[in-house]
Amino acid sequence: MRKHFSSRVLGAKRSAIRELLKLAERPEIISFSGGFPDPETFPHEEFAEIAAEEIRDNYRDVLQYSTTEGSKTFRRGVSGWLKEQGIEASIDEILVTTASQQGLDLICKAFVDPADVIFCGLPTYLGAIQAFTLFQATKIGIPLEDDGMNLDVLEEEIGAARRGGKVLKGIYVIPDFQNPSGITMSLKKRERLLEIARREDLLIFEDNPYGHLRFSGEPIRSIYSLDDEGRVIMLVTFSKTLAAGLRLAVMLARGDAMDALVRVKQATDLCTSKLIQRLAARYIERYRFDLHLAEISRTYRRKKEAMIRALERYMPAEDGIRWTDPDGGLFVWMWLPEGIDTEEMLDRAIEEKVAYVPGAATHVDGGGANTLRLAFSLASEEDIDEGIRRLAEVVKREIAAKKREGVAT
Ligand SMILES: Cc1ncc(COP(=O)(O)O)c(C=O)c1O
Repeated sequence: MRKHFSSRVLGAKRSAIRELLKLAERPEIISFSGGFPDPETFPHEEFAEIAAEEIRDNYRDVLQYSTTEGSKTFRRGVSGWLKEQGIEASIDEILVTTASQQGLDLICKAFVDPADVIFCGLPTYLGAIQAFTLFQATKIGIPLEDDGMNLDVLEEEIGAARRGGKVLKGIYVIPDFQNPSGITMSLKKRERLLEIARREDLLIFEDNPYGHLRFSGEPIRSIYSLDDEGRVIMLVTFSKTLAAGLRLAVMLARGDAMDALVRVKQATDLCTSKLIQRLAARYIERYRFDLHLAEISRTYRRKKEAMIRALERYMPAEDGIRWTDPDGGLFVWMWLPEGIDTEEMLDRAIEEKVAYVPGAATHVDGGGANTLRLAFSLASEEDIDEGIRRLAEVVKREIAAKKREGVAT
């Protein structure tokens, strides 16, 4: 059978981590692994009401195909909502997608030829790495600093890739509360990134699933809203702000870029579910989405605070152990002392009934062995405390074992 597989599929290995993390779905395990939103944040009563009404009264329309671009009612609603966030996007700049993972797939189909270079964070979102790998892109990782990607390194890597004769395509960034690190890119860096992209004629793929889940600090302008050349393509999913199972997102793009994306979407799935678009459109129309976002951000803030408190309380005071304290989003990122391999440690953690994502899976350069991602979104505050206590025991034993081996620094 394998001889029939495309070279794309042969190059895309099944993620060993995803396999291991299936174990984390067992109910006795406290899981900090998947970036699953808390189901209590889903506006299920409102959806039930709207769905019943739409299916009963408008079945001819909502159970029909939609246009590839997406329903005008929904795009109009989204355009108005984005305007409140300082993002000017007319409905012609909005393409509705079957969630943002499809947006990444469409970006690859529309813009990436095999071997083209995409620059991304070190670490970055695992699902983006998988999409870029499937389309045989060359992924070059750029280390993150406390205020986002290290742009000096980006410029050096651009120079090196150009000297190597490569075709440079774009830069993939998650500027707000990045997955997996929780790091936010400063406005200064957003502006400089755009300048670099202009100078080097690169596209920017701005992926923003978490920007609306802010706990502290002021919102920072999107790169899309700083751009006046149509160089930035932005993805905004409703997975974390309404419900992941809707599989609903929008992609913002201008001019020719939008035209290419619509063409590839048409060949991919014709259109996104109209019923789901209508559900979201009516929700935005009738209810206070801003209040909903404020409320769910408060939920996630409490959970993040519970996690930070537990980390401070239980983790050993060892050189090399530190973590991020994000202003929003769903993730805390953690460093363990050099020499600890969080992929190996995951077996022991699962035995202790706690799970996380090993950082190596999110590094395109093979690094990050001593890092891990902790999602605070799904577990209750009590489970967060207990899970971090368990994890701290695993970490202490790991450090003691490494010290016995004389490996730990
Ligand atoms: C950075 C980033 N991009 C895209 C996605 C995909 O989200 P969805 O396909 O649910 O819209 C996620 C999901 O966790 C993410 O963290």
